[in-house]
Amino acid sequence: MVVVVVVVTVVVMVDCLNGRLGAGKPARQIEEAADTCNCLKVKHNKDNLMIAKSILDLWPELEWIQNRYLREKTAKTWELALSKSALKPEDLKRIPFTLLAGPDLSVSFMDHKRAVVHIAHECGLKFNVFFKNELPVDMDILIAGAILADVGKLLEYEIDENGKCIQGKYGQFIRHPFTGVSLAEQCGIPPEVCHIIAAHAGEGDLIKRTTEAYIVHHADFMTFLPFKNRQL
Ligand SMILES: [Fe+2]
Repeated sequence: MVVVVVVVTVVVMVDCLNGRLGAGKPARQIEEAADTCNCLKVKHNKDNLMIAKSILDLWPELEWIQNRYLREKTAKTWELALSKSALKPEDLKRIPFTLLAGPDLSVSFMDHKRAVVHIAHECGLKFNVFFKNELPVDMDILIAGAILADVGKLLEYEIDENGKCIQGKYGQFIRHPFTGVSLAEQCGIPPEVCHIIAAHAGEGDLIKRTTEAYIVHHADFMTFLPFKNRQL
């Protein structure tokens, strides 16, 4: 009897520590979904749940995601995107983060993407301090969504013969919120996070954003529009 009570208590504590993963999405469901992740075409085991060093090098912020399954699915989505992209991890630290802010932009793709994640992270913490249960922010969902918001851009860009980043043919037809969701779903990313990817840009103005999606949207645009409009 005592043993049963202890086991139940430990299970409940682990679930609580893993945190809420969006409305009605307990951590255990994420764990079960991990077994059917399409991006690897294999059943998960302890070894392939590890995050590739090249991805952790790009995204040290992955460590902020408390739920290990969500953390590893987020990393796998970047891994899948890189496997399909014309860009290499080193290109992401060199190319400008947007093609819409003039030819002299020196802020790299990764510097901008990581800045968005840091700003969103700080916003989420402040929301939880000041608004508490009135507007709770799921930090795992928020961070995963911020890290994945622009993952689809890896299929949107190409490098020309001069090493310059250009929009490829594929990207002219399908924008990165769509390709991002497609990549994420192949890796078993939950719908609360796919929603952030889908709604982070202008397309999201047409739907009702979650609190986490609003934060990522504003973190993204507050660090984009001032660059785009700074010549005015
Ligand atoms: Fe974007």
